[in-house]
Amino acid sequence: MSFLTPDQNAKAEEPAVEIAHGARLVPRITIQAFCESSQTAQLVDSAMHDRRMSKVALTTHNGGIDGAVETYKANPTPNLIIVETMLPPTEIASALARLAEVCDASTRVIVLGHVNDVLLYRDLIRSGISEYIVLPTGAQDIVTAISDLYVAEGAAPIGRTIGFVSAKGGAGGSTVAHNVAWAIATSLRQDCLIVDMDLPFGTAGLNFNQDPPHGLADAVLANQKVDQTMLDRLMSKAANHVNLLTAPATLDRTWDFEERDFEAIIEICQKSVPVIVLDIPHAWNAWTRQTLASLDEVVIVAEPDLANLRNTKNLADAIKALRPAESATSLVINKQGLARRPEISSAEFASSVECRLLGQIGFDAALFGTAANNGQMIAEVSANNKVNEVFASIGMQVTGRQASHGASKPSSLLKLPTLFKKRA
Ligand SMILES: Nc1ncnc2c1ncn2[C@@H]1O[C@H](COP(=O)(O)OP(=O)(O)OP(=O)(O)O)[C@@H](O)[C@H]1O
Ligand SMILES: [Mg+2]
Repeated sequence: MSFLTPDQNAKAEEPAVEIAHGARLVPRITIQAFCESSQTAQLVDSAMHDRRMSKVALTTHNGGIDGAVETYKANPTPNLIIVETMLPPTEIASALARLAEVCDASTRVIVLGHVNDVLLYRDLIRSGISEYIVLPTGAQDIVTAISDLYVAEGAAPIGRTIGFVSAKGGAGGSTVAHNVAWAIATSLRQDCLIVDMDLPFGTAGLNFNQDPPHGLADAVLANQKVDQTMLDRLMSKAANHVNLLTAPATLDRTWDFEERDFEAIIEICQKSVPVIVLDIPHAWNAWTRQTLASLDEVVIVAEPDLANLRNTKNLADAIKALRPAESATSLVINKQGLARRPEISSAEFASSVECRLLGQIGFDAALFGTAANNGQMIAEVSANNKVNEVFASIGMQVTGRQASHGASKPSSLLKLPTLFKKRA
């Protein structure tokens, strides 16, 4: 409640808006820094103490560009890499070209160099490097460079949206969504947000043994007044890199929505979290259809029987009509090998519905039942179970990382070899 007149109110709010704007938080990205000297490592560390960096996860390593190249030959790249280089200008581009070969397309790179050379700066920026900062410098310059990249007006949203929907009730869409999010968080070490859109019956809270007082319902009932700060308050942390917007799972009201009621929420999530996993209920109404039409990636989870096949075909056709420019819808076959149940083979299933088969998961009542009853993920119940590899592989594919199995990664820095030729 405010005791100010509307006019005073407007005036009183003006400076607050400006302050909030000037200090917008950098999203929940992961940053890995490869430094050649301990001073630079300290500098990067101290930059992370800035309030704007409070949601960022940073790890600092030794070894400069070569250290980074060695690391990313075997490991997935984070959202942002900061590399220090002491190389002479003529060698920087070729070293960065080697880094480009092992970087994922969405990864950005900031270079900390010791050479103050405008031509070098321009060349590096043109070649795909996000920023070149000359050392020595203050922590503030590093913070500013990072926030310019991620929170400046017009900065591209960072979040990839991946929706999971069951072909038939109970096929396992939620279970697969939660375990895949867990796999992405642990293997890619990227922050994931699970949005449980099954407001009356959702199980994300149960599956992660969480009962937060707030969640997605508060956001959607806020009637478009939702903003970043509010969403941050409504999210709960389930594990390292795993955040939830839970469903209330109550029936004291009905949960009917307009077609675009979730649109603003999803857009705001995309500005703050790199991976957003949407657990979409098995329903066909205006808002589920609109959500399926707008996501980066849709995965249908189906059991290998006829009713699931028919529903998957209908869903895949509808999704294709809604988003004709996108590649084929993805499919996960779940609960395979249920004793004495006649089954349609996965390959046959996938080809008749024209979907890309991402993985197959066997029926295992003891394992999945224990996980569900304990409020744990499969990897927590049985870390060495093969099914964890399936979840991880689905996670790699839906985040566009499947190329990491030996093949070179598609890189945003691919223009670098040209620069190398020019300078050599
Ligand atoms: N591969 C599996 N083997 C055995 N049980 C499984 C498997 N996958 C999921 N389950 C179990 O099946 C039940 C339904 O799973 P889940 O809630 O994920 O399905 P859903 O399709 O999201 O359901 P709904 O239609 O209610 O949204 C849960 O009890 C879950 O533990
Ligand atoms: Mg579900």
